[in-house]
Amino acid sequence: MQIVEHAPSLAPFHACALVPTMGALHAGHASLIKRAASDGRPVVVSLFVNPTQFAAGEDFSKYPRTLEADRALCQAAGAEAIFIPSVTDMYPHGVDAANAQAAALKLPLVATQPQLEDAWRPTHFAGVCQVVAKLFDMCQPAAAYFGEKDFQQLRVIQDMARREGARWKNIVVHACPTIRESDGLAMSSRNRYLQANQRENALGLSRALAAAQECARAGMDSAAAESEMRRVLAQHQLEVEYAVIRAPETLLPIEKFQPELKSVARALIAARLDGVRLIDNASCAGAISDRGG
Ligand code: PAJ
Repeated sequence: MQIVEHAPSLAPFHACALVPTMGALHAGHASLIKRAASDGRPVVVSLFVNPTQFAAGEDFSKYPRTLEADRALCQAAGAEAIFIPSVTDMYPHGVDAANAQAAALKLPLVATQPQLEDAWRPTHFAGVCQVVAKLFDMCQPAAAYFGEKDFQQLRVIQDMARREGARWKNIVVHACPTIRESDGLAMSSRNRYLQANQRENALGLSRALAAAQECARAGMDSAAAESEMRRVLAQHQLEVEYAVIRAPETLLPIEKFQPELKSVARALIAARLDGVRLIDNASCAGAISDRGG
């Protein structure tokens, strides 16, 4: 497996399968790499903790950096190269200038309208779009792989790639399912922040999603499913930022959803446990009736 530090050395990997990550890799990331490898193209994994997607006061400086273990995981999962650019290579004019540039980007509507991550982390998707666009420009991949774990991010990247089809030669963005611990907790690099005694309460997210799925199966409307999610989250001492049922394409409330699309709805949650921020989501077959309808 090759270790690439500078973008020009990516030339032999153009038309590869790209798996963008921030490192601190776990089995969720490994599943993306394995899926990409099984599609037959050489896989490049980028490892870059992107400063422009973290707001002041978020965890950029304490984000776990585990390069040696990451390298071994990438190799075992079948990557042909890892790309580990420096902050200076990515943002030669400095992070302040990069933040200003990110703020001027025109983002897809799904990055600004739903009032989910976009409301709670208002500068986040500008930084994500900025860095992913740079990675696409540098690698020129034929395909890229993103996890449903970060469902709004996945939708944002899909729409950005669709909009910029010509720039990235109609790159295909693949969605990969969320990998969970055996008890249901979605794997996340940030799970390392959880103390042993918080672990049980963290299960509130996947349990709330299961409760929403049950409501949907029983034909309840989205408002009822949302209040059931809040009840389960509260039982686990989780401080809710949002716990909603949304249309899976636009991530807008179901009441604005066109029922003839017949897509399954998406339940999405962000909640805090003593300051540790956790997100999770799941598809919810059935909960497509209007609020109160
Ligand atoms: P990171 O959090 O490292 O995640 C990298 C990719 O792994 C994302 O597509 C994410 O959705 C996916 N992923 C994380 N946990 C997962 C799980 N449990 N199951 C399946 N996939 C999972 O997301 C980012 O980095 C950054 O925002 C990035 C896109 C790299 C831009 O900096």
